[in-house]
Amino acid sequence: MIPLQEQNTCVIGLQWGDEGKGKIVDFLAERADAVVRYCGGANAGHTVRIGSEKYSTHLLPVGVLRAGKMNVIGNGVVLDPAALFREIDELAARGIAVTPGNLRISYKAHLVMPYHVLEDGAREQSSEGTAIGTTRRGIGPAYADKMMRATALRVADLLHEEKLRQRIARVVTERNKVLRALYDLAPLDWKQVFEQYRDFGRRMGPFVEDTTFLLLQYAREGKRVVFEGAHAALLDVDHGTYPYVTSSNCSGLGVYTGAGVPPQMVQNFQGVVKAYSTRVGGGPFPTEQDNNTGNYIRERGNEYGTTTRRPRRCGWFDAVAARYSADLCGVSAVAVTLLDVLSGLDHVQVCTAYKYRGSHLPYFRADMDILAEVEPVYETLPGWRGNISGCRKFGELPPEAQQYIKRIEQLIGAPINMVSVGPERSAMLIR
Ligand code: IMP
Repeated sequence: MIPLQEQNTCVIGLQWGDEGKGKIVDFLAERADAVVRYCGGANAGHTVRIGSEKYSTHLLPVGVLRAGKMNVIGNGVVLDPAALFREIDELAARGIAVTPGNLRISYKAHLVMPYHVLEDGAREQSSEGTAIGTTRRGIGPAYADKMMRATALRVADLLHEEKLRQRIARVVTERNKVLRALYDLAPLDWKQVFEQYRDFGRRMGPFVEDTTFLLLQYAREGKRVVFEGAHAALLDVDHGTYPYVTSSNCSGLGVYTGAGVPPQMVQNFQGVVKAYSTRVGGGPFPTEQDNNTGNYIRERGNEYGTTTRRPRRCGWFDAVAARYSADLCGVSAVAVTLLDVLSGLDHVQVCTAYKYRGSHLPYFRADMDILAEVEPVYETLPGWRGNISGCRKFGELPPEAQQYIKRIEQLIGAPINMVSVGPERSAMLIR
């Protein structure tokens, strides 16, 4: 039996991603033995700043940036080996070694293949008015194949070369017909794809592991594990703003299947929100400020995608959405990031409720047609001035900034235990 692992934490974004989870995971990783990614793929982008160096990870857990931590890519991830090795090589060039000694990959994780990336891009391009605004990293098609089963490839398949050859020949031949018929794309050469993935497999072999077995062993030894949520609750394929979501269960609810661990192993959920809201890609965004305020936030917060560099849509903090996510994920505490970005505004606004066709909506509705029509009800609070990035205690913040944090805490309905006021590791106030 696995005893309750109260020391473990899962970090979850409560908005539409890019909440600064990388920094919070990095902070918690200092006292952890292992960091586990459990959903999504190279569509994620987690940034950690160490001194003057900035690191962005996409597939690798941010624990690789700290010496002596084990990092796990769980079965719920869709792994693009080209992206993985690019990341590993880039880190190596900067003096950070990622080896089988600090990275283990689940043999059950599914692979992103070249035709997934082609299909994602072609579908987005040809979907007039109905594009999701994906990162075009092949995520949706890879998860679709996982559910389809007959056309999927997993990390384990890389380790059996003859079967891999046969499988890739069959699947690529089939997929070429689809790519041709639907998008008029030139066929892929299955032999080239096979050779590329065979070589990836040879390099990946030493990293491959039964990661469930490994993590259960950690539980028995009382080791501390941080589960690194990617994307965010509102992008969860079941509970987010469907269809403008990603294709995995990237809320807290996905951690058990995606990491392949039982509920005893993850009891604490640490939510993360930005002090405002952002979103990339399509979909309703009730508190969007497509105006000077939005531009002010975008420029001060450098709100451009880590993965795609797309400008992010920016808006006021939406407490209705954050409360829904906090409830859904069962968070015990919430970290607020990027509070410094809001400095310098005369007033700040918080959305406290939605109006829909004349009446108050009692709760967030993950229904695109309703969300597209809701009118946010705002509460206006006083702004604050000055650079708050040097503050290291909550009491050092301007009273208006403290008031803002306390108000959103009340609205979310969970204690705010951390406030980040700058990109540095040290720019963090613990309450
Ligand atoms: P996909 O995950 O590439 O299929 O994209 C689906 C939607 O999720 C798009 O709106 C993306 O912009 C969004 N998305 C996926 N991953 C992230 C992320 O890590 N941060 C923010 N948005 C994301």
